[in-house]
Amino acid sequence: MKILVTGGAGYIGSHLCVALAEAGFQPVVLDDFSNSRPAVIDRLAAIIGAPTPVAIGDISDAAFLDRVFAEHEFAAVMHLAGVKSVAESCRLPLLYYQNNIGGTLSLCAAMQRAGIRRLLFSSSATVYGAAARSPVREDAPLSAANPYGRSKLMIERLLADLVAAEAAHLPVWRVAALRYFNPVGAHPSGLLGEDPLGTPNNLVPYIADVALGRRPHLNVYGNTYATRDGTGIRDYIHVMDLAEGHVAALRYLLRANDGGYFVWNLGTGRGSTVLEVVAAFVRSSGRSVPCVMAPMRPGDVAESCAHVGRAQAELGWRARRDLDEMMADVWRWRSANADGMR
Ligand code: NAD
Ligand code: UD1
Repeated sequence: MKILVTGGAGYIGSHLCVALAEAGFQPVVLDDFSNSRPAVIDRLAAIIGAPTPVAIGDISDAAFLDRVFAEHEFAAVMHLAGVKSVAESCRLPLLYYQNNIGGTLSLCAAMQRAGIRRLLFSSSATVYGAAARSPVREDAPLSAANPYGRSKLMIERLLADLVAAEAAHLPVWRVAALRYFNPVGAHPSGLLGEDPLGTPNNLVPYIADVALGRRPHLNVYGNTYATRDGTGIRDYIHVMDLAEGHVAALRYLLRANDGGYFVWNLGTGRGSTVLEVVAAFVRSSGRSVPCVMAPMRPGDVAESCAHVGRAQAELGWRARRDLDEMMADVWRWRSANADGMR
């Protein structure tokens, strides 16, 4: 069964291709390599043991999408392509709305033309906004504080509208929004991992840079939060657990033909503080990670953790890998690929 993975060459998409292949599906990557490298395709082949077909192009290009859908018969589309930096989205809102919202509209229209109605979308815990109480359930109120978050929120709403509008017709849309918490980690082979360009914004890639000696220290953004050690708590999830969560959600969508719009949190349900993440990384790598306390980062919240009951009950899936395994896999990847796949 062929599954189209938009953004399949990216950090999460590449791990998802491995999980799909392990589960017996044939992933087909669609990517324009705007934030990834073609070398990832060779590494996927090395892990999977077979080549992964690739369609190189932009999801906003309708003629390109029509060609891809004419060439392959897909059982579903997993839509990960998009831009994802909160800070960049505040500088370049049009890029975020065009690529994320415009790209999703273009993809859905092409799916409609091709008669494919099963879609999984990469959403984010950012749609819960700053006021959410942890552990946050899927039915919590939604809000967004920046263009990136608003693009995710608007896409969720447009997908729900699409499902509702088509509910009276057959074949109907069956769509899932997967709200990721904080994906970290890497494939245990050390061949795939997160490969950010420039200075990382996110905690774990930054810690790895410090451990590699590329940056002098980690700035810990705030140590006076109302948490057990004063630093921010997040629900870090191993990217392979996240990928397996997608496969469980895909199976759920494939199981029936009736329409529906589904939302699942993908997290572990357990939070770690910044200092706990640093300690796990030091344990796993044997390197030192000097820390300097710094002011709180604007827009950050004290705690963000998933309520995972719905995913467990409906998908029969739960995250299995702990923080030490996440950090060990990050270190194996980064220490063997200090310059990523460049
Ligand atoms: P990534 O940048 O590594 O992967 C995205 C991929 O999409 C890249 O390979 C890029 O080249 C491709 N792409 C971007 N725009 C495209 C376009 N218009 N047409 C074709 N390909 C395009 O990012 P990631 O971390 O793997 O994130 C994947 C998805 O998950 C994104 O939608 C992101 O918003 C969402 N997400 C990520 C996180 C996270 O922490 N990484 C958290 C929540 C949600
Ligand atoms: C951020 C984004 C979120 C996005 C996610 C994945 C913000 C406000 N939120 O989430 O929308 O979905 O990345 O791309 O940008 N920290 C440090 N020092 C650092 C970096 C981070 O102390 O150098 C702390 C942060 O204050 C936070 C934790 O580490 O407590 C995790 O930060 P990060 O990895 O950036 O993720 P989020 O802020 O949760």
